[in-house]
Amino acid sequence: MQKNVRRHFMSYCVNKEYLCMCRRSDPQEEEKVAPILQVQNLQHIYSAGTPFEHIALQDVSFSVERGEFIGVIGHTGSGKSTLMQHLNGLLKPTSGSILLDGEDIWSDKKLTRQSRFRVGLVFQYPEYQLFEETVYKDIAFGPKNMGLSKEEIDRRVREAAGFVGITDEQLEVSPFDLSGGQKRRVAIAGVIAMEPEVLILDEPTAGLDPVGREGILANIESYRKAKNATIMMVSHSMSDVARLAQRLLVMSDAHLAMDGTPQEVFARAQELLDMGLDIPEITRVFLKLQQLGLPVEQVYTIEQATQQLCRLRGEVSNA
Ligand SMILES: Nc1ncnc2c1ncn2[C@@H]1O[C@H](COP(=O)(O)OP(=O)(O)OP(=O)(O)O)[C@@H](O)[C@H]1O
Ligand SMILES: [Mg+2]
Repeated sequence: MQKNVRRHFMSYCVNKEYLCMCRRSDPQEEEKVAPILQVQNLQHIYSAGTPFEHIALQDVSFSVERGEFIGVIGHTGSGKSTLMQHLNGLLKPTSGSILLDGEDIWSDKKLTRQSRFRVGLVFQYPEYQLFEETVYKDIAFGPKNMGLSKEEIDRRVREAAGFVGITDEQLEVSPFDLSGGQKRRVAIAGVIAMEPEVLILDEPTAGLDPVGREGILANIESYRKAKNATIMMVSHSMSDVARLAQRLLVMSDAHLAMDGTPQEVFARAQELLDMGLDIPEITRVFLKLQQLGLPVEQVYTIEQATQQLCRLRGEVSNA
């Protein structure tokens, strides 16, 4: 009996060593087996059991790999914000689960709390949540809650301010003396200062002018590059997500209707239009050209459109 136990133990050790060797020899493989987030059969019902009951999410499942930039699109009321608020434990699933690094964030209180820091959520119109006397104190709020030292908080505040283009002088003023775009930057810096592995932004450019929008998108991209962070961005701007995201999730009526690269998703342009969604302007033009019988492929960026037109011009001049 004891011999058997020992044999099992030895074979367990050998297998474990073998697995470790495999992992050591192929770090990319290890990345593949450990998505940073996994959403499994997520359902959320608001006001369950009351006359106001509303199913906001139904059977939503997907995984997020480290370092991905994911765009989340969908019509108004499709469930985008509800979904995002589940990813850092702000909302609790009615059923289904959220795994962070393979562990259910609701399996223990410590994990739920940790998920709030490891997954940073920037709400829609986050500037309405600024409340401290100075910009510095507002950005420091999150890191302070994490129980970090004064020096570490200071380092993080200054670094986060740098990411969003807030100067040292601006750190000392009241956030209410800043412009709308600058307030938004401060609010984003407050989340960035917690150095989340996953940064979720719910319509970060809503209501900003084109210059303000470009600035915020550049800030997000620079944070992602510097920290190798994972980004999930909800947006109504199809051209922004088409340009920045490597993968798109399309929500429709509480369901995940599509999950693919921008190429795959925008190739289904007519379905998107039928769902009441917009498509990038350039995709719309090329859809029309296709319908008129021109031999062009579907595109979603200006660069792709230029290539297609150059190819077409080459074919015409060669004929
Ligand atoms: N606190 C709440 N109580 C009840 N119903 C809610 C609540 N919050 C949202 N809902 C409903 O749940 C559905 C999904 O809402 P959600 O805010 O997630 O959509 P959304 O895709 O983010 O929409 P938008 O593009 O307008 O921001 C909507 O029908 C909404 O009315
Ligand atoms: Mg929303």
